[in-house]
Amino acid sequence: MIFVTGGAGFIGSNFVAQWFDGPDGAAAEPVLVIDALTYAGNLASLAPLRSHPGLTFVRQDICDGAAILALLRQHRPRALLHFAAESHVDRSILGPGEFVRTNIQGTFALLEAVRDYLAQAGAAEREAFRFLHVSTDEVYGSLGPTDPPFCETTAYAPNSPYAASKAASDHLVRAYHHTYGVPTLTTNCSNNYGPYQFPEKLIPLMILNALAGKALPIYGDGRNVRDWLYVGDHCAGIGAVLAQGRVGETYNIGGRTELENLTVVQTLCAVLDELRPRAQGSYCDQITFIKDRPGHDRRYAIDCSKIERELGWQPQQTFASGIRQTVAWYLAAGDWISEVISGRYRDWIDLQYGRAGSSSAEK
Ligand code: NAD
Ligand code: DAU
Repeated sequence: MIFVTGGAGFIGSNFVAQWFDGPDGAAAEPVLVIDALTYAGNLASLAPLRSHPGLTFVRQDICDGAAILALLRQHRPRALLHFAAESHVDRSILGPGEFVRTNIQGTFALLEAVRDYLAQAGAAEREAFRFLHVSTDEVYGSLGPTDPPFCETTAYAPNSPYAASKAASDHLVRAYHHTYGVPTLTTNCSNNYGPYQFPEKLIPLMILNALAGKALPIYGDGRNVRDWLYVGDHCAGIGAVLAQGRVGETYNIGGRTELENLTVVQTLCAVLDELRPRAQGSYCDQITFIKDRPGHDRRYAIDCSKIERELGWQPQQTFASGIRQTVAWYLAAGDWISEVISGRYRDWIDLQYGRAGSSSAEK
């Protein structure tokens, strides 16, 4: 068995689906998902697997180390994959406390529970165990236009409370390996997109706003650059690191697809124009430039040659194929969308974008 924290979130739920979709299918190793079901976690994201015999779900806050230790002792997994986090940069700017709690204290609680568990495990169990920590490229800070991409030895320079909390969690993971011998693996990935992403992040927010006839709110001049990776490719990279990664190492994962935000939004508008044309004009007409995010990192780019060289991983999707699949998925995902868009979601949109950003008619 493996444990997956945050398995009801965007990347975690895609990882679990891919796990059971592999060559072993129904016979794949069982998974226990541990998730607190915050606003970002939803059982609807695991709905296609509801009756899968290998999937067990436990609603549990990772900050409760005693409860995590009890689960470890009960199920004796051979790995814990740690996706659970507060993950949205804008929310970390408005309320950093929850990011310190879940991302730092929660990771600490998991590491302590695993340390206790391994201290009493047999030598073979200890040898086989892996703590795989899923992290982000944002820990490296912001690049200038001609800087080389981030590699595993790039110095940490986090700029947002979210990035700082993830950087702190990475440091704890590193320390637990070096000090206590916990068999850790860390991945630092670039921007993901794909099915089941909560519509607060750039791509799903823009798709839903476009379809609702609302403004497409681009921060600043729209020239900030992100390196985009289809979520299924990220999950495959995590699987490769779990299977063959060297203990104590970190692996950068990215799509070698640097794009300006404006280009991303124009591209998804073009796909929407084709798949769900407006009565008149293009969805690009809804693009609006709004006040920039405070401390907005200008450019991220990932050098993923280590995982390519050592583990033979490579992304399978281009941005063109991945964005088309993603737009098509959201067009068909009405039930999932209405499930996740609660009153709390609408409160967030009002708080973050205000009334001016809420409708193209109000521009
Ligand atoms: P998400 O916000 O979609 O999902 C997070 C999940 O964690 C949710 O299911 C939520 O309920 C759960 N959770 C939050 N707090 C919890 C707690 N205290 N206890 C238990 N569960 C809790 O996030 P995501 O986009 O799927 O990101 C997953 C991981 O990947 C995060 O660690 C994030 O930092 C990292 N990451 C994300 C991206 C990206 O582009 N989304 C890129 C690189 C790395
Ligand atoms: O780089 C990896 C990170 O990517 C992950 O660690 C984070 O969990 C994930 O949220 C993501 O962070 P970003 O801040 O890059 O993602 P977001 O989708 O919030 O924004 C992408 C870019 O789009 C960023 O430059 C800000 C911009 N943006 C975002 C929103 C929500 C806009 O211009 N308008 C918007 O409304």
